[in-house]
Amino acid sequence: MAKTRTKYVCNECGASSPRWLGKCPNCGAWESYVEERVASEPPAKARGARSSATSASVTPLNEVTVEETTRIGTGIQEFDRVLGGGIIPGSIILVGGDPGVGKSTLMAQMCTDLGRRTLLYVTGEESLRQVKLRAERLGVDTPSLLLLAETNLELITDAIGTVRPEVVVVDSIQTIYHPRIESAPGSVSQVRECTAMLMRLAKDRGIAIFVVGHVTKEGAIAGPKVLEHMVDTVLQFEGERTHLYRILRTTKNRYGSTNEIGVFEMSEKGLEQVANPSALFLSERNYGASGSAVAATMEGTRPILVEAQALVTPTSYGVPQRTATGFDYKRLQMLLAVLEKRLGLRLGEHDVFVNIAGGVRVDDPAVDLSVAAAIVSSFREIPTDSRAAIIGEVGLGGEIRGVAHVDSRAAEAAKLGFETVVMPLVNLKKIARREGVNFLGAVEVAEGINAVF
Ligand code: TYD
Ligand code: MG
Repeated sequence: MAKTRTKYVCNECGASSPRWLGKCPNCGAWESYVEERVASEPPAKARGARSSATSASVTPLNEVTVEETTRIGTGIQEFDRVLGGGIIPGSIILVGGDPGVGKSTLMAQMCTDLGRRTLLYVTGEESLRQVKLRAERLGVDTPSLLLLAETNLELITDAIGTVRPEVVVVDSIQTIYHPRIESAPGSVSQVRECTAMLMRLAKDRGIAIFVVGHVTKEGAIAGPKVLEHMVDTVLQFEGERTHLYRILRTTKNRYGSTNEIGVFEMSEKGLEQVANPSALFLSERNYGASGSAVAATMEGTRPILVEAQALVTPTSYGVPQRTATGFDYKRLQMLLAVLEKRLGLRLGEHDVFVNIAGGVRVDDPAVDLSVAAAIVSSFREIPTDSRAAIIGEVGLGGEIRGVAHVDSRAAEAAKLGFETVVMPLVNLKKIARREGVNFLGAVEVAEGINAVF
């Protein structure tokens, strides 16, 4: 019987130490060390002694043969898009997200269209009955879908060996344990080792394995960062419980581009694809109200129109408040300083609240100008032109800087019936003219904003 000892492992990067540390010397995270019990390894034979493994073989590049990998379509277009065109056999895909966002629902729905392929759904969180009830609700009745309620990885591996599935779902990795590892399910060592074992299984047998993982309060997938390095693809499922739609985002993909998103709406019958996200995000616009402007942002290769909202009110107690939802707080402060300096807006005496409507988060600097326009609109209490979209990054000097993918942004605005599109002047010459749309170029922030009033 192996002796056990205690070690401390960093939740963020997986580094370990015999003592608890307040700050991880490896990744710099604070209070990330957790206690773990490990079985001590038998003393290694003389260091440097060769193991019994056969010698490594090297292969010249031009002798490596690559069979054309055929991707398996999931039947859900939005899902295929984030995967880079479908599932690659032999790959391991991590699906992360907050509890209740719809990870299990997505996995179950995927099984409908995978049709006659043998599928194995391993559930460590829910009973077979619960899975069945959800499947019934979603109308999933694929006969080739096999269920396994098990958390012991050895038994799961045996089952995979017996039923030889093409696609496996492990829901969730935090509930799975390997009996040889002493620490509790969900601990860093368990999560890491179990993923490594699943990874080998996927590669050796050419099975695609979806691993569902929870996300910590800080927004990272629970378990060490190394988990994200190990797998081939990392998908993040995001969305507010209070909002109906969900965004599936690729944060890593060895077989496709990152930053792709798929948009879904959670309904009675499960997740429904949203083919036209711009229309959805703009659907609740309050036409004619001040403090609103529309921008075209890029999510991966896809342009999406979003509404920037601002509320500017006189400060009642001393220090003015600033709040940003869905938009970077520091960027908001920068924009306010620019507006104060270049347009002479006395924002120091006003509270400013900025929100990107619909609960989306944008990191794209091209929305700067729309946020600035919304602030000016609320300050002046004059609505912007509801048929105008405004794109551009704002620099510290009050200049409007060029942005990438202007043509797709402009095309999206035109498609949704916008009649005016204000953009950086440098970008204007690069876009294709479209009938019925007036493209305006601006050099400087006041000029750009005034173009939408
Ligand atoms: P679930 O897939 O269980 O979330 P996760 O696996 O990420 O924890 O979905 C949870 C939520 O989705 C739950 O609050 C109920 C809701 N839901 C619907 O609104 N419609 C449906 O058809 C289903 C199956 C779930
Ligand atoms: Mg679940």
